[in-house]
Amino acid sequence: MVERGWHEDAVIYTLDVKTFNDSDGDGWGDFQGLIEKLDYIEDLGVTCLWLRPFYPSPLRDNGYDVADYYSVHDRMGTPADFRELTDRAHDRGIRVLTDLVFNHTSTDHGWFQRAREDPDSKYHDYYLWTSHVDDAYQTSNIFPDREDGVWSYDEVADKHYFHQFYHHQPDLNVSNPAVRDEIHDVMRFWLDQGADGFRIDAAHPMLLPKGHNGTTEGIGLFKELKRVVTAAKDHAVLIAEADDQPEHLDYYFGDGEAFDLMFNFVLNAHMVYGVGVRDAWPLHRANEVLPDISGAGQWANFLRNHDEWNLLKLPQEALEHAREYFGPGDGSSWIFGRGHRLRLADLFGHDHDRIAMAHSLLFAYPGTPVVLSGDEIGMGSDLWLDERESVRTPMQWDDSENGGFSTAGREDCYNPLVVGTEYSFEHINVADQQSDPDSLLSRIQHIIAARKRSPELSDGDLHLAESGHKDVLVHRVDTDDTAFIFAHNFADEYRESVLQWEVPDADTSKQLGDGGYHIEDDGVTFLLDPCDYVWLRGDKSDWD
Ligand code: NOJ
Repeated sequence: MVERGWHEDAVIYTLDVKTFNDSDGDGWGDFQGLIEKLDYIEDLGVTCLWLRPFYPSPLRDNGYDVADYYSVHDRMGTPADFRELTDRAHDRGIRVLTDLVFNHTSTDHGWFQRAREDPDSKYHDYYLWTSHVDDAYQTSNIFPDREDGVWSYDEVADKHYFHQFYHHQPDLNVSNPAVRDEIHDVMRFWLDQGADGFRIDAAHPMLLPKGHNGTTEGIGLFKELKRVVTAAKDHAVLIAEADDQPEHLDYYFGDGEAFDLMFNFVLNAHMVYGVGVRDAWPLHRANEVLPDISGAGQWANFLRNHDEWNLLKLPQEALEHAREYFGPGDGSSWIFGRGHRLRLADLFGHDHDRIAMAHSLLFAYPGTPVVLSGDEIGMGSDLWLDERESVRTPMQWDDSENGGFSTAGREDCYNPLVVGTEYSFEHINVADQQSDPDSLLSRIQHIIAARKRSPELSDGDLHLAESGHKDVLVHRVDTDDTAFIFAHNFADEYRESVLQWEVPDADTSKQLGDGGYHIEDDGVTFLLDPCDYVWLRGDKSDWD
């Protein structure tokens, strides 16, 4: 039997060090501040941290514009602080993944500076240039509201360089073996500092046509990364951020030789949309369009991330509906022609029952669940902030100044705390919710604990049932020995749902949820108040 990798049973929590907790009062979160909050993270029950970029950077893309791969931004700490974090996290059984950005660097990176100054330097070929932009390969920029195209002129080099994201993020020439060697060295370095693996940013753009001739790379690029990390650390894992077309997603697993996990953007768009519009059809559709990845790898499922809520994987009509349905009405949250720069709580109208149910559903799906820091207490966004910064405000710890995030002045914080709305730190904070057994935070802790009691769920087989109501989702996950049945009521009214699967009473136990159920000869009936959920578990040999 193949040994299960730790990532298959993990519960991932993603955070940005600079907005999590400030230990030295300068207004920026830092590694020591994060270390101070490890009790909180452990109590939440998560088993793995994914840290967003913390490297030296001009921060024109929140750190996804890296100026030096080998250090820590001085406002967040030092490499020694990073090592201390990984040691302390490991002592508690918590793994640490870091974010690595290899599709591009910042224009401030030393490689780019040398590349533009000297066309004969080896660094020139680390990037993609053209002297004849009219003949060069063209494609659309990934940030269409902000950038006109994929070529920008550099005065020093007197050439145009290729960039799929912002103009200050020149694409690396990943076909160049010297660049690949650099990438491998960076990965070995951070594994050596204690990292347990990496989220590979922009994995899809890494494979897209690049440069003057539109050169492409194949899965060999990622198989190579996987070989390098495994040779350096046996248990190291790679997660792909690859928002590719559904039918192409299994490619990234490289038949078990490339990525271990992939963010499931398809499920994300459909799950949040379905729960929000109180209709289960998007979950049925997601199931139809996603490829079968059994044996190849596993999905990393999530409700929100630190970017816009990207709706491109919905059918066009649903995308247009979501644009109006979820926004504040003035269009201020819509970005890049594809999504809302809102948090989960904004999308669900500040309704903690709905947020809890959405997390229950996320954790009731096969795959590795990923929780965005702040969603567990229902933090909201600040649309006054530019672009995607709206969803990147500091963690709200208590109702003291700056929500307990920092003792600095409000104007000195990396981003200001949310104030003046129902989401302000006076109303939404960890301290209040820790002392309330019915709070969103407490409910999410219960959901995480329930999932950890049934780790086999992560690679089970998913079957969606007919629930008899368009706004109730009933599904089953089968593993070798166990069958789980879940019911989630998306409606604002009470629902009774009868499931025609034979379920023996004696062998069935409720694992989680306030919803009621009773079992009769012809199946199970769920009795569900608005936003109720129920998790049932049974011995499969008795059920079949
Ligand atoms: C995906 C990251 O999540 C996003 O924040 C960033 O802007 C782009 N990749 C470019 O690195």
